[in-house]
Amino acid sequence: MLNEYMISENFEKLFNAAKEVRNNAHVPYSKFKVGAAFLTENNSIIAGCNVENAAYPQSQCAEASAIGNLIANGFTKIKEVVVIGSGDLLCSPCGGCRQRLREFATLDVKIHMCNTSGHLKTSTLKELLPDSFGPENL
Ligand code: THU
Repeated sequence: MLNEYMISENFEKLFNAAKEVRNNAHVPYSKFKVGAAFLTENNSIIAGCNVENAAYPQSQCAEASAIGNLIANGFTKIKEVVVIGSGDLLCSPCGGCRQRLREFATLDVKIHMCNTSGHLKTSTLKELLPDSFGPENL
């Protein structure tokens, strides 16, 4: 079912990038594939997937992988986010990733939480991380 977010051009590009990179997730332990895609300052799309490890705590979320790719590609700003999890329940960024996003995204940035079929919910970073601590707080 299409909604207001899904018909925006950026959403569709971000959704397709997150869905594609999600296929490459390394998830032998959870079997829970996640893909994340960012819109950058020059409207490029940068994506990443989760990468698990036999030493479980060393696993990396899709958002963290995408942030590594953002920086490696010379960008520093996240203008919009799509996260695609597995199954039909909401895959919202974990607490640690909300803080990671906070470094590169302003509080009004929209985070679209999706499954592989489409959009489920959109929240701003401010809604996901109220009273947050960011670079301006130092
Ligand atoms: N995961 C993400 O990559 N991003 C999220 O937003 C939520 C959870 C990953 C971590 C782990 O590899 C798997 O999903 C199950 O928790």
